[in-house]
Amino acid sequence: MNVRDLLRANIKAMTPYSSARDEFDNVADVYLDANENPFENGMNRYPDPYQKEVKKRLSEIKGIAPEKILLGNGSDEVLDIIFRAFCEPRLDNIISHNPSYGMYPVLSEINDIELRKVNLEEGFQLNSQAMIDASDEYTKLFFICSPNNPSGNLLQKDEIKKILDLKRGIVVIDEAYIDFAEEKSWIHELDHYPNLVVCQTLSKAWGLAGLRMGMCFASEEIIAVFNAIKPPYNVNVLSQKAALEVLNNEPAFKEQVAIILSERIKVIAALEAASCVSKVFPTVSNFVLARVDNAKALYNFLLERKVIVRNRSTQYLCEESLRFTIGTPKENDRLIDGIKEYESAQGE
Ligand SMILES: Cc1ncc(COP(=O)(O)O)c(C=O)c1O
Repeated sequence: MNVRDLLRANIKAMTPYSSARDEFDNVADVYLDANENPFENGMNRYPDPYQKEVKKRLSEIKGIAPEKILLGNGSDEVLDIIFRAFCEPRLDNIISHNPSYGMYPVLSEINDIELRKVNLEEGFQLNSQAMIDASDEYTKLFFICSPNNPSGNLLQKDEIKKILDLKRGIVVIDEAYIDFAEEKSWIHELDHYPNLVVCQTLSKAWGLAGLRMGMCFASEEIIAVFNAIKPPYNVNVLSQKAALEVLNNEPAFKEQVAIILSERIKVIAALEAASCVSKVFPTVSNFVLARVDNAKALYNFLLERKVIVRNRSTQYLCEESLRFTIGTPKENDRLIDGIKEYESAQGE
C-alpha cells in the first residue's frame, strides 16, 4: 500500500511555508531573522515549530521516535489536519461508527466531506464488515474511537485489524482515553501498519484540557505531510513550556490516574446500587455511561444541586442515558448524594 496515493493532489504538490526557524535551526547570539521584538519577556520569540523538547520527552514516555509524532492545538486541530491531508471536498468520504465523538461529523461538514456512519452493535461493539461494506474507492479515512466516547469501552482489536488489513484507507484510532485503560495503545502497531494513525491528547489523564495539546502518532512519511500542512507555529511558547513541566512530573500523573480509577469503582458501585439506574455500561475511561429511568428528570435534579452531567439520550444506543465524568472524591460524593436524594424524592 502506498500512502502517498491517498493524499489529495494539491497536498502532494504543495510547497510548505518555510519559517525563519526552519531556515536557521541552531543557536546564535543575535537573532535578526524573524521580525520579532528583541526585548525579552519570555514570549517575544516565535515558538519552536516542531516542539522538539516536548516531543523528546513524549518519545521517552511513549517509546515512539519524535519523527513519528505531530503535536497540535488540541486533538481537534490534529483531526482537522488529517482531513485536509487526505480528503478531497465533495468527492471523498470517511467512515465512522455510531455513536462516537461528536467532532468527526463537525469536521466532516467543515471540510465538506461525506461522513458514512455505521451503527455499533448492542454493547457498543464494532462490526468491521459493516464498516468495510460502507466504504468504496473514495473512502480515505476510517475513524475509530477506542476507548469510545460516549460509551467508554474499548472496541475489539480483531475487528479493527480487519479494517487495517483491508488497506483501503487510513485508519485513525482516537485514543483520547487510553491512559485510563489497562490495554496497550495502538501506537505499538505503527511499524506493522503504514495506514495507521493514532491520536491521543494531554486533555484527559494528563490534566491539560485548558492548555490544548493533541498528539498524533504515525509513520515518518505521514507525519512529514502533516508538518507541511499545519500552521508553522501551531503550539505556542507557553503551551510547550507548561506541557514539558507536566510531562516531567510522571508521578503526579500516575497518582491522579490511580485516584480516578479507584473513584470509578466507587461511582460504578453507587450507580449499580441505585434503583433509578437500569444499566451501567462497561467502561475503561474516566467516565461512565448509565441508563436511567428518566434521563431528563435526573439531569435536572442534579443540575438544581449544581452538579452537571451530560445527557447523551439523543445518541444511538444511548436512550435515557447519562454520562458521568469521574471527578474528585468529594465531587463524586456530591453526585452520589444527589442520586440518592433523587430516589428518595421519587419515593415520596
Ligand atoms: C474521543 C475524543 N477525542 C478527542 C477529544 C478532544 O481532545 P482535545 O481536548 O485534545 O481536543 C475528546 C474530548 O472530549 C474526545 O472525547
